[in-house]
Amino acid sequence: MINDLVLGTMYFGTRTDRATSFALLDRFVEAGGTTLDTANCYAFWASGTGHGGQSEALLGEWLRANPGVRDGLVLATKVGVEPVDGGGIEGLGAETVRREAGRSLDRLGVDRIDLYWAHAQDLNTPIEETTEALGALVADGTVGAVGFSNHPTWLVERSRAHARAASLEPASALQLTTSYVEPRPGAAVEGKDHRFGFVTDETIDYLERNEGIELWAYSPLVQGSFDRDDRPFPQAYDHPGTAARLAVLTEVAREHGVARSQVVLAWLLHREPQVRPIVGVSSLEQLEPALAAARLSLGPETMARLDQPA
Ligand SMILES: NC(=O)c1ccc[n+]([C@@H]2O[C@H](COP(=O)([O-])OP(=O)(O)OC[C@H]3O[C@@H](n4cnc5c(N)ncnc54)[C@H](OP(=O)(O)O)[C@@H]3O)[C@@H](O)[C@H]2O)c1
Repeated sequence: MINDLVLGTMYFGTRTDRATSFALLDRFVEAGGTTLDTANCYAFWASGTGHGGQSEALLGEWLRANPGVRDGLVLATKVGVEPVDGGGIEGLGAETVRREAGRSLDRLGVDRIDLYWAHAQDLNTPIEETTEALGALVADGTVGAVGFSNHPTWLVERSRAHARAASLEPASALQLTTSYVEPRPGAAVEGKDHRFGFVTDETIDYLERNEGIELWAYSPLVQGSFDRDDRPFPQAYDHPGTAARLAVLTEVAREHGVARSQVVLAWLLHREPQVRPIVGVSSLEQLEPALAAARLSLGPETMARLDQPA
């Protein structure tokens, strides 16, 4: 299952310094990890420049320092929310998609992006235009596969239908946020401002009825709230459902002798349909438990208890 774990590299090259980022990448690959997630805009808010690109540039540097490693990797990056000078974000227009794919390739120092994400819904660009731009990148070999992050399900399906009709590669991956606990319906969550950013029951139904679409989960550990007293869950998670889930999570963690975060990651990986967690870590001490979680086996009885807390 280590293959199904994704290493998030959002702060590599900004908050996470070069040496630590290299050590995390080395260890992840040494342990059998293959899949890396970044974005052209990472991490503009943590950089004095006001622009992103630091994470991709750091990955490029690491790839150059480790010849041969690229072949065994799945590199995923995104386009769509990089700030533009004068205000606003770049969006998903055809020209932006083409130009930014080129810039990402340059920063990464590779000739192919294995999975290219449309980062967030762009209300100003018809989905058909974005779909054709992404499809053209697959057709010319620049991109291996296409995914949508922070888009409503109906729009993803409209894109897939348009791609099929135009003989282009349809999107085959969704990137949304979810965890073992969920916020109250309708409640705002600090730092999570994408209207369609959360996995919902509709997402799961969509995956169950459409084969071949992967689901990747960002922020699966809610910034470490499961195990850290200094990171209380955001207020929106304060409801009776959370209490019931945390109670069974605590029991299962104790039975397996692991941290609650590790059970969360293992539960996501064991779910049907599977959810591939994108782990965000800033030290080796945080990475090791995530790697161990991918090796944790949760039997059907334990999964049933976690799925249906009393
Ligand atoms: N598509 C999107 O819109 C989107 C949005 C956000 C993120 N992402 C992707 O998802 C990845 C992960 O997102 P995230 O950073 O928000 O994930 P997260 O799981 O919510 O939080 C990760 C943070 O939790 C803490 N943590 C993790 N493991 C820990 C451990 N074992 N012990 C103590 N603390 C621990 C660390 O905080 P400290 O570093 O502060 O110690 C770590 O940086 C990103 O790198 C990015 O690739 C995508």
